[in-house]
Amino acid sequence: MGEFINPALVPTVTLPSGEKVPCVGMGTFGSDRVSAEEVSKAVAGALRCGYRMFDCAACYGNEVQIGEVFREAFEEGIVERKDLFIMTKVWNDMHREVEKACRKSIADLQCDYVDLYFIHWPFPNYHAPGCDVDSRNPDSRPFSVEEFMDTYRQCEELVEKGVIRYIGISNMTIPKLEAVLPLMKIKPAACELELHVCFQQQELYDYLVAHNIQPVGYMPLGSPRRPERDICPEDVADLQLPEMKAIADAHGVHPALIALKWAQQRGEISIPFSVHNFASNLKCVTEDPLTEEEMKMISTLEKGNRLVKGQVFLWEGANDWHDLWDEDGVIVK
Ligand SMILES: NC(=O)c1ccc[n+]([C@@H]2O[C@H](COP(=O)([O-])OP(=O)(O)OC[C@H]3O[C@@H](n4cnc5c(N)ncnc54)[C@H](OP(=O)(O)O)[C@@H]3O)[C@@H](O)[C@H]2O)c1
Repeated sequence: MGEFINPALVPTVTLPSGEKVPCVGMGTFGSDRVSAEEVSKAVAGALRCGYRMFDCAACYGNEVQIGEVFREAFEEGIVERKDLFIMTKVWNDMHREVEKACRKSIADLQCDYVDLYFIHWPFPNYHAPGCDVDSRNPDSRPFSVEEFMDTYRQCEELVEKGVIRYIGISNMTIPKLEAVLPLMKIKPAACELELHVCFQQQELYDYLVAHNIQPVGYMPLGSPRRPERDICPEDVADLQLPEMKAIADAHGVHPALIALKWAQQRGEISIPFSVHNFASNLKCVTEDPLTEEEMKMISTLEKGNRLVKGQVFLWEGANDWHDLWDEDGVIVK
């Protein structure tokens, strides 16, 4: 048996409800490179090493395999269902059938209910898993408040039915949030967004905190093995920055662990994916914190380096991927 990190020693964040959850969860997207079997094997290892939060999604194509791992862990008494915090997401092609999608994820994950259910993207623009960067769906449309709220209402009903415990949103912008937050009956507990040292999204981060929505940072390590479609020549490799290497040397660890300590000390939940390093990724938040100076130094490494640009979600008539992110402060239609 590998290393065990006592879950009670993992720092927590407090959701708007007052519930405390771990500040690190295991990502489960194989980035079109790691098979469903390998991802589920990593989840099995992570469970036994002390992870209690998992970030899943229907579109990652591995919920059946991960569900087998959960079932085995429950049967072997390694954890009980109530000890886990399972997050998953409705994919863009199921916005009109959220309950069906959610119940399928629950059946696949063999988890009875979902703790936090995200709307993966705020539009129903579907692209097939593993598609290339130039593929476009002719049915794609710009963001619509009405369509989004219809999807969101279905999530609210799932909370009322006890199928999910909390609602999450993902890949949102401040203008979109401004439009939809006042219309919601049940506020979202969390927002999943791209967050890493070269893409800190401070304004959106502060907005979420001010609105009592917990930020969940995806790609916390700058996703060094992300899918080909998300790699551009101008991208910066966060973990190779000399400043990150210098801080890592001072702590005698890999720069990845510095990125995760920074995320935890900033107040996020981070969801690093790992097949080989998941134990050190969880352990690092339980020991040897960064100094205030190191935290300040890392806050200067912002480079506006969005990695998930989202080109495949563009609609006809859109200019380019910047249109997805409402950079001028208004919803681009
Ligand atoms: N909501 C959304 O739209 C959205 C979008 C993207 C991602 N996500 C979620 O966020 C999760 C994380 O994003 P990601 O998987 O793209 O990127 P990431 O977690 O930033 O990076 C994962 C990569 O880093 C490597 N790594 C992990 N720990 C390491 C360590 N200690 N030292 C060196 N290398 C290390 C892993 O390799 P090894 O396997 O060899 O350790 C893996 O190749 C996903 O799995 C998914 O759950 C959500």
